[in-house]
Amino acid sequence: MIVTIVGAQLGDEGKGGIVDLYGEAADIVVRYQGGDNAGHTVVHGGEEYKLSLVPSGAIRGKTNVLGNGCVVNPRTLFDELDALCERGVDPDVRVARRAHVILPYHRVLDGIEETVKSEDDQEVGTTGRGIGPTYEDKAGRRGLRIGDLVDPEVLRERLEYVVPLNRALAEDVFGIAIEDADVDATGVDLETAFDVDALFEEYREYGRRLDEEGMLVDAGAFLADRLDDGEQIMFEGAQGTILDIDHGNYPYVTSSNPTAGGAAVGSGLSPGVVGGGEVIGVVKAYLSRVGSGPMPTELAGVEDDTPGYDGAADERAEELATYIREEGGEYGTVTGRPRRVGWLDLPMLRHATRTSGFTGLAANHVDTLAGLDEVKVARAYRLDGEELRTIPATVERWAECEPIYRSFDGWPDVDWDYVAEAGYDKLPENAQEYLEYVSSELETPIYVVGVGPGREQSVVLEHPF
Ligand code: GDP
Ligand code: IMO
Ligand code: MG
Repeated sequence: MIVTIVGAQLGDEGKGGIVDLYGEAADIVVRYQGGDNAGHTVVHGGEEYKLSLVPSGAIRGKTNVLGNGCVVNPRTLFDELDALCERGVDPDVRVARRAHVILPYHRVLDGIEETVKSEDDQEVGTTGRGIGPTYEDKAGRRGLRIGDLVDPEVLRERLEYVVPLNRALAEDVFGIAIEDADVDATGVDLETAFDVDALFEEYREYGRRLDEEGMLVDAGAFLADRLDDGEQIMFEGAQGTILDIDHGNYPYVTSSNPTAGGAAVGSGLSPGVVGGGEVIGVVKAYLSRVGSGPMPTELAGVEDDTPGYDGAADERAEELATYIREEGGEYGTVTGRPRRVGWLDLPMLRHATRTSGFTGLAANHVDTLAGLDEVKVARAYRLDGEELRTIPATVERWAECEPIYRSFDGWPDVDWDYVAEAGYDKLPENAQEYLEYVSSELETPIYVVGVGPGREQSVVLEHPF
């Protein structure tokens, strides 16, 4: 059996928690796209784990795979593994030989391009992890793959071709003086970031460690064998549908496919195998967004992130945004910056449901909205005087969409631990009405309702495995 977990919105929907909850029955947890731009939270035994690259199955001692669709920074991978080991978790992580490698210059170029774009307010607000530049090299057929790290001749040959190209891009196109600066704004040592010999030594060592620790796999073959043995596989999507490079709001997207099709391409199992299982869309009961791009249901705004926001907003909207932000902890984990927040958006969710074919929904953060008098949902958009039930293909048109809201009476803050234990019927009635409306509009059943960050703070209606 295969279960795929996909973010239905803009990332941070609570995918890590759902992987952890349902992962009990899984044998293997697989990431199929993205890299250490993700931040997945698992709360286990009162301890909170924030995972970037290591799949969330690590906390339960599962086998974890980074598929060929991932971009892997070996530095951050080993740092994360070492930090987990120090906390008493010793994860079994395998890495696809076909996965691409993030090198220090990818991070440098990510930062440079964002700075250049920001001069015209065009920046995406990336995580700065070098994700975009690594996928560019992959698509340009000049990237390094994990399997190249264990063959010194191949490694050197590839570096000798690609490093001068990236160096020329930094120096000649973007005008960066690599020789004169020790480190860039993010602390990357510029001199070694573009030095073939230094990179060769460092990355050969990572290859040796990956090999020595038995971490290298041909992901598709590995997973197919385990399936044949009757094992259960869970795919852990990172980011979300609207950050998908094809189906998201390009160009304010990440450079991979978080939608369910990505699970096949990014793992080496066929679309039939992935599609033959369950696909669970993780939906936050409201919206949060890190970075730029349109967001029709946004409440108030966040300076530098909300396009065109100048700090002047409706007082009531500002109050609501602050309430949701505080209750939901919607502040950047590293920067502490407030995240953009807004009401649930059904046109967005219809688009997500179609692209990934959700068989079930995980509705998180129902507790976060408790205490509000009124909760709104955009049931459609108005564009050029017409009603639209899904999102337009361009960001320019999307930005012109006016939400048409349906309003719900709010629900009180209750003893959520009790609700989680007692079951769905004990959810406040107004919350049930809200959830049932969303479920019927998306023609998809609700499998689980999140009423708190902990594994036990979930109202489980269906088990996909
Ligand atoms: P992911 O990137 O999709 O895995 O989500 P993140 O871990 O980045 O963000 C989700 C945050 O919300 C984490 O701090 C979770 O612990 C927390 N969380 C998840 N589900 C719920 C929920 O139902 N209620 C509350 N209050 N918090 C939740
Ligand atoms: P998880 O898996 C929320 C956003 C960035 C930026 C855009 C591109 O925790 O849900 P990138 O560094 O990928 O090139 O940035 O995507 N972004 C995320 N937002 N959650 C994430 O991951 C994200 N990963 C990337 O803020 O707008
Ligand atoms: Mg996250």
